[in-house]
Amino acid sequence: MTVPPFTPSDLCALTAKLRQDDEAFRRSFALGCFGGDEEGAKPAVSEAGRGAELRARFLALIESRTGIEAGGNAAERADRLLASMPAVAIPSWLSGLEMEPVHSPGWEELVDLLTVHETYFFRDPDQLEFLRRSVLPELIAARRSEPAPRITAWCAGCSSGEEVYTLAMLIVEALREAGEAELRGDGRILIQPRWRLSVLGTDIDRRVLAQAQGGRYADFPMGPFRSLPDAWTGYFEPASEPGPSGGPAERMVRGEIRALTRFLPHNLAGADPPTLDLSLVFCRNVLIYLSDRARRHAQALFHRALARDGVLALGPTDVLRQPELFQPYWGASTVLYRKK
Ligand SMILES: C[S@@+](CC[C@H](N)C(=O)[O-])C[C@H]1O[C@@H](n2cnc3c(N)ncnc32)[C@H](O)[C@@H]1O
Repeated sequence: MTVPPFTPSDLCALTAKLRQDDEAFRRSFALGCFGGDEEGAKPAVSEAGRGAELRARFLALIESRTGIEAGGNAAERADRLLASMPAVAIPSWLSGLEMEPVHSPGWEELVDLLTVHETYFFRDPDQLEFLRRSVLPELIAARRSEPAPRITAWCAGCSSGEEVYTLAMLIVEALREAGEAELRGDGRILIQPRWRLSVLGTDIDRRVLAQAQGGRYADFPMGPFRSLPDAWTGYFEPASEPGPSGGPAERMVRGEIRALTRFLPHNLAGADPPTLDLSLVFCRNVLIYLSDRARRHAQALFHRALARDGVLALGPTDVLRQPELFQPYWGASTVLYRKK
């Protein structure tokens, strides 16, 4: 029998459909079933031993290439994908995937399907306030006597960029409080030109990076602005009014803040950090999706990327897997980590 190839465009159509169904899909998993009609609901590949073997191979491949844990959300999505594919095409498709680099179109589709992109401005305010009131003033004080002082940060797993812009705004706020920057009445932001500031945002998913780069966000309830302090609205400009059919207005991050940022694809399961000698590394709400091995690997990358007095911020549920590399730096109700 000739097996029809399962092409990248087939995968593209399938993942687009799965993304469209995502809400219903998540609801159906919450109810403990696959949703839809019962026939299509069962992952075809788990019906036979061969199917189980292919599934295990697929999940192990995802984990080895991306660090994404072969359990939880990602496994559910992977099952859903396999269940929607013609079973007969899976072995050759999987063999093809094993040969392709992680930045190939097939992998990009998969990564976009398997990753969770929830993010918003000023997420976890306790941690950010500690950074603004204690950590950044210390970094500024240690550097301000240099002729070209630098503050450089990396947000790993930055999704659509809100965290990157938040961090750039925090740095400007801390510089303002130190008398090194000024917010003009007309909204312009002036930073003493001798300061070298940069915030790099990276993500394994190139699609979210395209949105991040634009710096333009729709304003809707529980959307990206849900926890933005009122005092920070001046860091944005209106980009569009609400649409005639009630579509949300959009806001654009001000050009002076966007100029401090850049975005690159980067996989935390890769061998090297994207840059070195950093003042800050942020990796929040990312490691929870990775395997234990990938978490340890990522934390070793952060250690290599940080300068001697550099500070690491993890998400509230993340555990330090490399305590020999970092020491806790406690705030009133939060913790960051200093490079040892
Ligand atoms: C839930 S978002 C977190 C966004 C932001 N850090 C925050 O806390 O609001 C998780 C992001 O991690 C990214 N991610 C997952 N695995 C990754 C990997 N191996 N390398 C880099 N980014 C990854 C996903 O694509 C996603 O955009």
